[in-house]
Amino acid sequence: MGYSNQFFQALGVDSNSSKEIKVAAAKAGIPVARFNHYNKTNTLPSGEDLRLIQNAFGVSELELKLKIGRIDRSTIELIQQYSEQVLGVIGRAEDVADAGPEKMEPVFSSPFGSLYQQDCLQFLKTVESDSVDLVFADPPFNLDKLYPSNMDDNIKEEEYLSWTESWLKESIRVLKQGGALFIWNLPLWNSNISSFLHGRLTFKHWIAVDIKYSLPIQGRLYPSHYSLLYFVKGEKGNKLVADRLPTPTCPSCFDNLKDYGGYKHKMNPQGVSLTDVWTDTPPVRHAKYKKRTGANELPVKLLDRVIEMSTNEGDLVLDPFGGSGTTFVVAELKGRRWVGCEIGPCEDIVNRFDSIQDDKANLDSIRSNLNYLYTPIIKKEREARGLWTAESVARNNIEPKPYVKDVPEFKLI
Ligand SMILES: C[S@@+](CC[C@H](N)C(=O)[O-])C[C@H]1O[C@@H](n2cnc3c(N)ncnc32)[C@H](O)[C@@H]1O
Repeated sequence: MGYSNQFFQALGVDSNSSKEIKVAAAKAGIPVARFNHYNKTNTLPSGEDLRLIQNAFGVSELELKLKIGRIDRSTIELIQQYSEQVLGVIGRAEDVADAGPEKMEPVFSSPFGSLYQQDCLQFLKTVESDSVDLVFADPPFNLDKLYPSNMDDNIKEEEYLSWTESWLKESIRVLKQGGALFIWNLPLWNSNISSFLHGRLTFKHWIAVDIKYSLPIQGRLYPSHYSLLYFVKGEKGNKLVADRLPTPTCPSCFDNLKDYGGYKHKMNPQGVSLTDVWTDTPPVRHAKYKKRTGANELPVKLLDRVIEMSTNEGDLVLDPFGGSGTTFVVAELKGRRWVGCEIGPCEDIVNRFDSIQDDKANLDSIRSNLNYLYTPIIKKEREARGLWTAESVARNNIEPKPYVKDVPEFKLI
């Protein structure tokens, strides 16, 4: 990973010569390690280092910002102010997307959808503008992973971000007004992606999905959440109705993990509201549930939640990074139309549809536990132990107890 030496280029330093780098760092009076860090991460120096670099190399801050591409609001304002002159220099060429292949044949079709074995950009270019209700994307994370497609998952950071922007632009184009875009990625990438999406779509949520995704390393916090970005096209989304969740209870004694005190009667019998921190969507680790070899398969529960909350039956769901086909099978089972592509082998997706009953059983079991304060099994266990349930609280509220206050005992004389 890392960037491609834009910082050294801006200063006229040869990135291939460690001797030249050392001399340049000494000229500025900055430790070589820090000088290299600015280059590797394409970071704009600040404070004293910035002043030292400006003096040593005769560059202005604006020049450095433009050359390494770290453009902030003040630079944008300048570009806006001089837009005619800037256009005069860089030209008025429109950013026109070249059309994708004329006719694409799906490798697989089902009653509700079609799958194409294609590069996502080529595929997206064939999709009509403003036609999709939900785009869900779980792209490769550029972490040097081996995918069945053998694609290069270790490219320069600016290359990864520029590729990401290309498929995002197309995803935005194909979304309907009010359609939703969900991007699953590491916080590292989604923080960049969200700044690109602001101003093109409307921000709804940064959802933190509690999944540990790497080992604890000294000097770093233990990475424990993936980011799920949620944006909509236009002023407001066409649908945002989330399932309600059961309140957590102890797995052995079934008592509440949280004390609701005197507020039990205020609890919604349909369950608690979904928050933007999801702790109940464990990753697919067990071989029994894996639909293809290797990692990178999202849980059915996650796709069920996203599709349920942002679409209606008959809506169109698009996933440009098919993988094992989780989005497609969940959409199919939920009566949504779907379309998508996968650049690598698609057999695992096709096989998954052949045994779609397994996913159906999983989905049915997930859905049977939603929209209850206590799931039927937990409710039974609580009733057996004399613990309160939504129904017992409602009963006590509706039928007020007789008012008994030290009634003197009636005695016959
Ligand atoms: C992280 S996986 C997606 C997993 C999927 N969400 C699931 O639950 O199974 C990313 C997938 O994107 C595919 N991919 C990578 N680059 C692609 C491209 N340019 N066009 C289409 N698919 C691509 C990879 O082969 C990989 O299968």
